[in-house]
Amino acid sequence: MRQRPRPKGSVIAALDIGSSKIACFIARVMDDEGRFQVVGIGHQAAIGVKAGTVIDLAAAEASIRQTVHAAENMAAEAMKGYPLREVMVNVPGVHGKSHNFNVEVHTLGHEVADTDIRRALSKAQDQAVVTGRELIHTIPVGYSLDGNPNIRDPRGMVGHNLGVDIHLVTGDTPALRNFATCIEASHLDIAAMCLSPYAAGLSCLVDDEMDLGCTVIDMGGGVTSFAVFQGGAMVYADALPLGGQHVTSDIARGLTTSIADAERLKTLYGNAMATLADENEVIDVPIIGEDDRTHPNHVPRSLLVGIIQPRLEEILELTRARLNESGVGQMAGRRVVLTGGASQIPGLRDLAQLILDKQVRLGRPIRVSGLAEAVNGPAFATTAGLLSYVAERSHEIPAAVTAQAAPGSLWEQVKVWFKENW
Ligand SMILES: Nc1ncnc2c1ncn2[C@@H]1O[C@H](COP(=O)(O)OP(=O)(O)OP(=O)(O)O)[C@@H](O)[C@H]1O
Ligand SMILES: [Mg+2]
Repeated sequence: MRQRPRPKGSVIAALDIGSSKIACFIARVMDDEGRFQVVGIGHQAAIGVKAGTVIDLAAAEASIRQTVHAAENMAAEAMKGYPLREVMVNVPGVHGKSHNFNVEVHTLGHEVADTDIRRALSKAQDQAVVTGRELIHTIPVGYSLDGNPNIRDPRGMVGHNLGVDIHLVTGDTPALRNFATCIEASHLDIAAMCLSPYAAGLSCLVDDEMDLGCTVIDMGGGVTSFAVFQGGAMVYADALPLGGQHVTSDIARGLTTSIADAERLKTLYGNAMATLADENEVIDVPIIGEDDRTHPNHVPRSLLVGIIQPRLEEILELTRARLNESGVGQMAGRRVVLTGGASQIPGLRDLAQLILDKQVRLGRPIRVSGLAEAVNGPAFATTAGLLSYVAERSHEIPAAVTAQAAPGSLWEQVKVWFKENW
């Protein structure tokens, strides 16, 4: 299914609520093909969010409000003074769940049309809805016609039975409700939601990677989430409640220093893998709680790396285990793209290559053009991908499927009933 491009001049906005930072990008559609340009940016440290979950409503609300205001101010001219009305919001990987369905619908020897595909998608949606979870994505990933598999696009083809493989993603309603409360406090509507690793993939992967099979791993502050792409679609996603902040707190505990100093040491001297030179290099570690910073502890750099490496190994090993259990191993291909703020630690690519036994590259948002240097790094892959999702894949929003699958006139309803039942 394809979607119509957004009209020229329309505004789209993305709000990425992370465990470390909250970011908002506002973009304006520049041409009739739906290409857009980012015109407003806001980002700041996330307060009130931990491991992808709201832990303090008032603090999270304030962080979101300030971030959105900053982006609105920057975009004021492009928005002609109108306030932002709705935003596209991320769903942290830990609150999402993948479901795979195969649904058959009768096409009675007619040419397959978009409506037949939507009927299949809508049937799958009905099966997936359970209390406590809500639909986030409805993605057709493969088709068969009268038992012939591997049909790339069945529209226009003639057959009696259309089979659709569907990947549905649902989200944990209470967790999402808390995000919604924070966003609505800023008088913003949620246009739709998108799973964080899906957005990260949409901004970091090139077409061939999405087609041939690739796993994107978004290593953030509190969550490491991953999504498998194949045939141009996301076929699986999962997440672990672990990220760069866990590395930082391991350092703070291990070297008896403050979180702020541990973060600095990690960024300045950290490495994912030990080297021989680490033994001889000595680094200064300020002692926690002591005002006098002139007498720090002197420790070999190897001690720091020795704290970082096991935690990163743990995260990568758990990711590997989840991918193996998922049964999508073959589809995931031989390629991994690592992104997210925590992917910036030197040596992580080599460590991931070793543990995952795949070809690994580092990813940043390459599919959204015109991003300033400060926001085109891996920490903003998800934020940028939310814009790509609205611009390119709005037809995967469950509400859009339901609206378009519901037949309009009574005559159309009768036709669908006959198709379904005879
Ligand atoms: N240069 C760097 N080297 C190593 N780690 C870094 C670097 N810059 C940022 N980080 C780490 O990246 C993490 C934040 O990443 P990111 O901004 O992607 O997280 P987030 O999106 O806010 O959180 P999440 O997606 O997990 O909810 C922090 O733990 C931070 O320590
Ligand atoms: Mg993130």
